[in-house]
Amino acid sequence: MKLAFAAPDLPEKGVVVAFVLEDRELSASARILNDRLRGALVRVMEAGRFKGKKDQVLAIPAPGEGSYDRVVLVGLGKAGDIDTMRAQAAGGRICAALASDGVKSASVAVDVLEGAEFGAAEMAAELAYGARLRSYRFDKYLTKQKEEDKPTLEALTFLCDNHTRARKLFAPLDAIAAGVTFTRDLVSEPANVIYPESLAAKAKTLEDLGVEVEVLGEKEMRKLGMGALLGVGQGSGRESQLVVMQWWGAGKPDAEGKGKKGKKSTKSDAGSEGLDEAKRPLAFIGKGVTFDTGGISIKPAAGMEDMKWDMAGSAAVIGLMKALAGRRAAANVVGVVGLVENMPSGTAQRPGDIVTSMSGQTIEVLNTDAEGRLVLADALWYTKIRFEPRLMVDLATLTGAIIIALGNEMAGLFSNDDGLATRLSAAGKAVGELLWRMPLGEEYDKSIKSDAADMKNIGNRGAGSITAAQFLQRFVDGTPWAHLDIAGVAWSKKDAAIVPKGGTGYGVRLLDRFVAENYEEEA
Ligand code: BES
Ligand code: MN
Ligand code: ZN
Repeated sequence: MKLAFAAPDLPEKGVVVAFVLEDRELSASARILNDRLRGALVRVMEAGRFKGKKDQVLAIPAPGEGSYDRVVLVGLGKAGDIDTMRAQAAGGRICAALASDGVKSASVAVDVLEGAEFGAAEMAAELAYGARLRSYRFDKYLTKQKEEDKPTLEALTFLCDNHTRARKLFAPLDAIAAGVTFTRDLVSEPANVIYPESLAAKAKTLEDLGVEVEVLGEKEMRKLGMGALLGVGQGSGRESQLVVMQWWGAGKPDAEGKGKKGKKSTKSDAGSEGLDEAKRPLAFIGKGVTFDTGGISIKPAAGMEDMKWDMAGSAAVIGLMKALAGRRAAANVVGVVGLVENMPSGTAQRPGDIVTSMSGQTIEVLNTDAEGRLVLADALWYTKIRFEPRLMVDLATLTGAIIIALGNEMAGLFSNDDGLATRLSAAGKAVGELLWRMPLGEEYDKSIKSDAADMKNIGNRGAGSITAAQFLQRFVDGTPWAHLDIAGVAWSKKDAAIVPKGGTGYGVRLLDRFVAENYEEEA
């Protein structure tokens, strides 16, 4: 869909969208349209339920004696309550309403709204962003779509004062949307198309944006001692991969402590790269199980197809890197994703196997379906050792238990750092990707004690999401860290204002905001 910004000249025909505030208060453009149509808009409103409340849409075909094909009124509620999320939601609803009516193109009249938090240019940019996010479809495998089911909407033009500014404000949002779209595509693709090597190849395409992308295969990972990750992939015919993405938007630090202000690195271990504090990267780590059968501890058949999206954490990290590089974010960020397929076979890992992780800690694998934590154990440790990041945030569709706890409304947040947890929660709230903090604690940690190894990969009966997080915490070694269990939010069964059903792209907008809000001004 083409999104454009133009000067506020209300067209005299075609499809026009205009806004209405609560209690049927018309925006300036809606008033002009109403006059041109000899009061038809007000008459239609008063004859029905449309009150200008947020999320209300009223499409009026061929109104009055004018030459408009359609005028669409969109409610925004109280002017004082209009924030970025509400503006984005309105953009999404416009897109959905026009698409379901079979409209091909429309103009959206964006006015200055008295009492609103921001001006017309900001509003136009947020509307366009919402429309772009909502217009997403994954229909590449539908070869027999009926004409009436195909998307029709080709272009939206946002009319406002200072449309050049609107276009400028939209550019970074467009980059974020491209990241979200990329993530949604990766999550939606089936597991015969997206497997570790093909997912790594998708990540490689970020090189076009200036991201450094390295792909490690099984041989390299074996050399590094990644027995936990490799054990998960050993039953699959597909080779496991570890992808390392680096974006040095705040300037690449010099290696070996020769960096700025003559500061010397205190650390001497290989690959630490001796970075001075402000340049040390933020690290995002993703679980990329491209299909999770459960392995020998195999899952039931019903619903197993959902496990094609067990790589959503890795897809969010890849999409985040795309968003950050796309908008040239002034921050140093690394993304690391562990990509494996969890299959049962003659070479598969068995329940009871003991593996040695890169950290040296041994793990008794009592359930081969608790595989995500095994992948993350080595990915987290590798990230910590190689980059000495300022903080680590991992994303994973880690446990069914988090869906029992939080449903599909919020992701679980676990952290060893209250400040980090607060900043993540705030970013999530700002973009509508909500987080709910869950506890960690010594007593929970005890439940993964093993008689045969340093730990086992499952806990006792209860608190499945927490014991999984406790397991991860054993591989972060004091680094400020947060774990987002996104099992309930990576996929949606219903359309929402800016998130159509299917792969949601959860995490990209949240973490982009987290980076922008907290780590870019200082650069
Ligand atoms: N990928 C699953 C978690 C999951 C379940 C994600 C449902 C999305 C929807 C994970 O690998 C898993 O199988 N976890 C087990 C852990 C258990 C064996 C300790 C679970 O949650 O049942
Ligand atoms: Mn599993
Ligand atoms: Zn899994």
